[in-house]
Amino acid sequence: TVLVVDFGAQYAQLIARRVRECHVYSEIVPSTMPVEEMMAKKPKAIILSGGPSSVYAEGAPAVPVGLFRTGVPTFGICYGFQAMAQELGGKVARTGVAEYGGTRLTVTDEGVLFAGLPAEQAVWMSHGDSVAAAPEGFAVTATTAETPVAAFEHPELGLYGVQFHPEVLHSEYGQTVLKHFLDAAGCRPSWTMLNIVEDAVEAVRAQIGPEGRAICALSGGVDSAVAAAMVQRAIGDRLTCVFVDHGLLRKGEAEQVERDFVAATGVKLRVVDAQERFLKALDGVTDPEEKRKIIGREFIRVFEDEQRAIMADGPVDFLVQGTLYPDVVESGGGTGTANIKSHHNVGGLPDDLRFSLVEPLRALFKDEVRRAGEELGLPAAMVWRQPFPGPGLGIRIVGAVTRERLEILREADAIAREELSRAGLDREIWQCPVVLLADVRSVGVQGDGRTYGHPVVLRPVSSEDAMTADWSRVPYDVLARISTRITNEVREINRVVLDVTSKPPGTIEWE
Ligand code: XMP
Repeated sequence: TVLVVDFGAQYAQLIARRVRECHVYSEIVPSTMPVEEMMAKKPKAIILSGGPSSVYAEGAPAVPVGLFRTGVPTFGICYGFQAMAQELGGKVARTGVAEYGGTRLTVTDEGVLFAGLPAEQAVWMSHGDSVAAAPEGFAVTATTAETPVAAFEHPELGLYGVQFHPEVLHSEYGQTVLKHFLDAAGCRPSWTMLNIVEDAVEAVRAQIGPEGRAICALSGGVDSAVAAAMVQRAIGDRLTCVFVDHGLLRKGEAEQVERDFVAATGVKLRVVDAQERFLKALDGVTDPEEKRKIIGREFIRVFEDEQRAIMADGPVDFLVQGTLYPDVVESGGGTGTANIKSHHNVGGLPDDLRFSLVEPLRALFKDEVRRAGEELGLPAAMVWRQPFPGPGLGIRIVGAVTRERLEILREADAIAREELSRAGLDREIWQCPVVLLADVRSVGVQGDGRTYGHPVVLRPVSSEDAMTADWSRVPYDVLARISTRITNEVREINRVVLDVTSKPPGTIEWE
């Protein structure tokens, strides 16, 4: 295990992911965790993440007491680098010269971190203070125009640090630098997908025991699907999956679950056609929060009915959920982010259902979940599906939800997805909601006649984690094809518009 000590910046997760890309397991721990507790995890190496801009800032987090006496190889990044320098007797200066963004790094001594790498390389910086003097016995190995000490190391003590962010892709050799540290620390690349899946399956088997039964709500999304497939592999038919077809999925997605997923995994599945019920509950509702609440509530009611039916064959004690590592970190990190929309995960049921949770994906990042899905043989379309909100198309119709409007939106959405895929943009684009402005009409002309139809909005965004996003610069010819096809093929739509708002201020979804 490599521990990534989180000093409160957004970079800790990225660092943990990069470590795992070197096939070494990593875990994020808060900087407030006592060193004894860290040592109990038997770390092979420790990485101190970036954090606030200054070690002198009020309430700046400190390096856990005694960390450098443990003898565990440690790598400080940005803030972690400065904190390390300060703690070990170096000097951190409030230069007043901030360095943000891309800059050139000059390697003056290859040492361990830069072995075999070019002397000049692009790196990404984000800091206010600078290390003015390395601690005694440390070799300074790199500089930049603004920062005399941009990297240092003391291989005998197993201590290393860099001012730049090796975890971001703008740092040309960042991943190699990280790998050099991990190699020097003696970390073996044994975290492979096959091991991950086997370990997770084994853990589920141990948790549920030889007799236990479990249920799982499938949403059509990748997380619940991979979680279910893992549990199925562990306990077979003692798992029952429930798929509530609320009628708010995109074209072909219900079939994907009912047919392809079952075929690929052999999961025991109960499908509930609840379309009528959801439509009725949503009748005339236009307020986004109210829609979300209704969909969440109805979902739970349907699920509870199913649960009762399944219980008729014997007790069920376990509920499978597709909780991912970022959720675990975020809820444990206590950084209290504002609740901007009441997010509802179709897999996410309330705590008062009396089950023990089985969460086989708790240690995984999204991209790892996808690869685990591939390892488990899930359909590619499902594994590589872009994020889709639990409340589905219900929150992509601005205005009341009706069967007809859902049908219109499904067609338009299918066309947009098809053209984006055909243009090879699936991996580049985080997701592209298509939003129907159902209460807006505009005049158009088609053939010889006047039309008075609805607009749809294309909302292609690029993002790392959906917390922030930018609108994607989709090539004009692709946009043109989408627009032409939608207005030609979907009769009720006579206008296609593009959303060019980043997040913030706009959220990704419109409701
Ligand atoms: P926003 O609109 O908040 O969306 O910028 C961020 C990401 O979350 C997805 N999203 C949801 N996912 N349940 C979900 O499981 C929800 O209620 C929900 N609302 C938004 C959205 O698609 C985007 O990827």
